[in-house]
Amino acid sequence: MAQHKILIVGVGSIGERHTRCFQSTNRAQIRICEPNDTLRKTVAERYHLQHAYASLDDALVDPPTAAIVATPAQMHIAMSQRLAEKGIHLLIEKPLSTSLDGTETLVQTVRKKKLTAAVAYVHRANPTLTAMRQLIQSGRYGKPIQATIVTGQHFPTYRPAYREIYYTRHETGGGAIQDALTHMLNAGEWLLGPMDRVMADAQHLALPGVTVEDSVNVVARHGPIMAIYSLNQHQALNELIVTVLCEGGTIRFEYPDKLRWMTSPTTQQWQHQEFPPLERDTLFTNQASAFLDAVEGKSPPLCSLEEGLHTLKLNLALLQGVQSPPWIVI
Ligand SMILES: NC(=O)c1ccc[n+]([C@@H]2O[C@H](COP(=O)([O-])OP(=O)(O)OC[C@H]3O[C@@H](n4cnc5c(N)ncnc54)[C@H](O)[C@@H]3O)[C@@H](O)[C@H]2O)c1
Repeated sequence: MAQHKILIVGVGSIGERHTRCFQSTNRAQIRICEPNDTLRKTVAERYHLQHAYASLDDALVDPPTAAIVATPAQMHIAMSQRLAEKGIHLLIEKPLSTSLDGTETLVQTVRKKKLTAAVAYVHRANPTLTAMRQLIQSGRYGKPIQATIVTGQHFPTYRPAYREIYYTRHETGGGAIQDALTHMLNAGEWLLGPMDRVMADAQHLALPGVTVEDSVNVVARHGPIMAIYSLNQHQALNELIVTVLCEGGTIRFEYPDKLRWMTSPTTQQWQHQEFPPLERDTLFTNQASAFLDAVEGKSPPLCSLEEGLHTLKLNLALLQGVQSPPWIVI
């Protein structure tokens, strides 16, 4: 099997996961780039890595085939531009950025150099959600007409250091919209097509020690399809339920691996398809394999740079929109 030289840029929380999951494909020789000395040494030792660089300059002396950009969001575009100019394929963490600065130049460079460039919206690597998309697209239950995406989790449990990382400020990719809702928006677009109109309400309700919004409600249109997105980062229950109402049936995905549908209003019986239980690392290993397939020209990337850019535009529109929601005061 081809061994690709894969550079992980930033081995914080998600960069370490990429290190582990790319390694587990057995298709990659991993090298890392991380300025934090302790972290760099720890990760290099943990995964038996021969090459661990303190800077991108050092890492580019022996250029990799592809780079995984896993630094805070405001650094993604400048780093990706530099890597793309060297002819290095890219998997860029979400969100693509925190502004549109430099994004069109990056798109042009990627096209000119004929690179694979993907954005790491990892829900696209979930086999059950993929099956839901295929079911919608098959037209078996008619056209989709309405959707609800409801999700919540207790962020302090999953990211105890949330007060010390990028999450605390919008400028570094923080807050519920750029951190978590962006995954849902991107998955929604993947299932239902591009979103072209949005309005939203967001607020900080509960997370201690931060002021950014931790709760969001969005009303959206994917062309003719009406959609609602509701997300919070403080409830005890870890849930993600995507319900798509088609003309002839209701299809429901429950994270991580449940898919069911109902067509009869009288029997009220769900039908379902079984999927193997899904571990979080499996999503990232699937994403790594799909990215390597794309680099090898076997299939398009799961989420193209252009699709990631569209989701970035949604993030920015919502951040602006929530400053003055169009309330009708009663
Ligand atoms: N897909 C997901 O589920 C998921 C989950 C968590 C984070 N993320 C995204 O991944 C990105 C990183 O998040 P994180 O939680 O890993 O953050 P983090 O703070 O844990 O890690 C970021 C790392 O980048 C390093 N870094 C900073 N400057 C650098 C430079 N010049 N060169 C190389 N490394 C540098 C930092 O030292 C740090 O170790 C963010 O965009 C975040 O939104 C995605």
